[in-house]
Amino acid sequence: MSTSVYSRYRAAFAQALANALGVPAADIEAQVKPAEPAHGDLSFATFPLAKAQKKAPPAIAAGLAQSLSVPGLEIKAVGPYVNARFPTLPFTAEVIDAARSAGIRYGGDEDAGRGKTVAIDYSSPNIAKPIGFHHIRTTFLGHCIANIYRALGWRVEGINYLGDWGKQFGLVAVGFQEYGDPARIDDMGHLVEVYVKANKRAEAEPEFDEKARAFFRRMEAGDAEALKLWNQFRDTSIKGFKKIYARMGIEFEHIEGESRYQGKMDAVIDQIAKKPGVKESQGALIVDLTYAENEPPILLKKNDGSTLYATRDLAAAQDRYERFQFDKSLYVVAQDQALHFRQVFRALKEMDLPWADRTVHVAFGRIHGMSTRKGQVVQLNDVLDEARERVSVKVRENVEAGRIQTDDADALSEQIALGAIAFGDLKHKRASDYTFDWDEVLSFEGHTGPYLQYAHARAVNVLRKGGGAPASYDAALLTLPEEQALLREIMRLPEVVRDAAEQYEPSLVARLLLDVASALSRYYTLGNQERDKRINVEGNDALRSARLALIDAARVTLAAGLTLLGIPTPDNM
Ligand code: ARG
Repeated sequence: MSTSVYSRYRAAFAQALANALGVPAADIEAQVKPAEPAHGDLSFATFPLAKAQKKAPPAIAAGLAQSLSVPGLEIKAVGPYVNARFPTLPFTAEVIDAARSAGIRYGGDEDAGRGKTVAIDYSSPNIAKPIGFHHIRTTFLGHCIANIYRALGWRVEGINYLGDWGKQFGLVAVGFQEYGDPARIDDMGHLVEVYVKANKRAEAEPEFDEKARAFFRRMEAGDAEALKLWNQFRDTSIKGFKKIYARMGIEFEHIEGESRYQGKMDAVIDQIAKKPGVKESQGALIVDLTYAENEPPILLKKNDGSTLYATRDLAAAQDRYERFQFDKSLYVVAQDQALHFRQVFRALKEMDLPWADRTVHVAFGRIHGMSTRKGQVVQLNDVLDEARERVSVKVRENVEAGRIQTDDADALSEQIALGAIAFGDLKHKRASDYTFDWDEVLSFEGHTGPYLQYAHARAVNVLRKGGGAPASYDAALLTLPEEQALLREIMRLPEVVRDAAEQYEPSLVARLLLDVASALSRYYTLGNQERDKRINVEGNDALRSARLALIDAARVTLAAGLTLLGIPTPDNM
């Protein structure tokens, strides 16, 4: 089944509105949004019509609501909105069966992106530096967007585009000659120490900085000795990074980097040099787009002949198109680099590359509240370690109290810690900044990863106690308002996954999972002492089976959604 119940009703509602208004249905469909739960399932706002119709929105809504009739939908005006509510019983079985038969793939649609390719540049740390905590944004967002596109049937080419070329390697190299211990060249921590020292010194001492630049020029000129040293640093860094990615369960289709374009830059520069905006300025080559947009020029080549980040991105964009023939090429990179990407994309257009408008900067905001007292970046690995430490205290307490059964408390703590950190990030809209707070992300209640993992584990446990998920059941028995409310949330996952892909917005999936978990909890804990009776309805096996089937659909929804977010789903916690 490729169209969900939700999207079928949405289309029917949009069609009816479009007929009434005499406009194409496609124009209306995008304006139909989920309604406030108290008011139904779908909502259409009439504000935009007020001007043309010279009527107040509530009057327009009332008129429309009266004239519409869609089989199976209850349509009502609420203030300026026309709202529609799905019927209850007819599709209960369809929603439950859709979730249960898809299992961990629920929410996806393998036909949606068949034959299409998306390149996703994410994580992309700079070598010889540690992966900082702020890297979780690009890493988790990119990973999750990749998962979502894969679930929608796209071919995904995930690229970890390492910052492995540039003056900073000159800095590590000359720093290593000065402060390095050759025996520890394969020790990532040591390289970081060296880098920090060298960086400080270069800031204070122009000659040292010049030495670093000179070293990088040697690399660019292909000097074998310089390249050998650089290669060793690079290997060490990649080994270090891979450990962290393995810990987070992340694999890339490609780990490459800026250095891939060494020696290929002249071709790019030749290609663009013919364009009208390209000129020399104080010995450097620049693309001056100021005639086109009010933006500073892009620097392609410095006056010492060395190339830059932007030049390499131009080469990389073309290389990716040649290799993957992508339909979309995403760059999951901080908002701070917005100007850079506007310039690069603009230059691609100037180069008349027909695919230039397939490139998208998937920008995100900052994390506050996470630097050491000295203002240094906090390393991602350290944050994961600390999260595991903190979680394991709680896990051990629960194990001792008999609330959690596990033979591997450490592994469970690691899974919960990962879930906490990942969800703490992914629940935020990517464009907004947020402040990291230990107590907030690690809490087992509230809008957190552990809360969702717990909701999932609880569903598993209820099913286990109830004798497993039933093969057959009678959906018509699920008539309680709490049951219908839970079904409505379960039903939305496919829709939300599609929206999340379109908007590159994993937070939509995160939010829906919170809604599923709270609907599940309201259903299950209604009248707390009675909770077991909800499922173990005495003497009524049919009702019990139906309820277990619903719980099973909720379990599947949580498992599938968490998996899309890259969050582990332990069965016990
Ligand atoms: N290495 C860069 C940084 O850490 C990010 C690279 C993003 N990708 C790109 N194609 N420019 O700031």
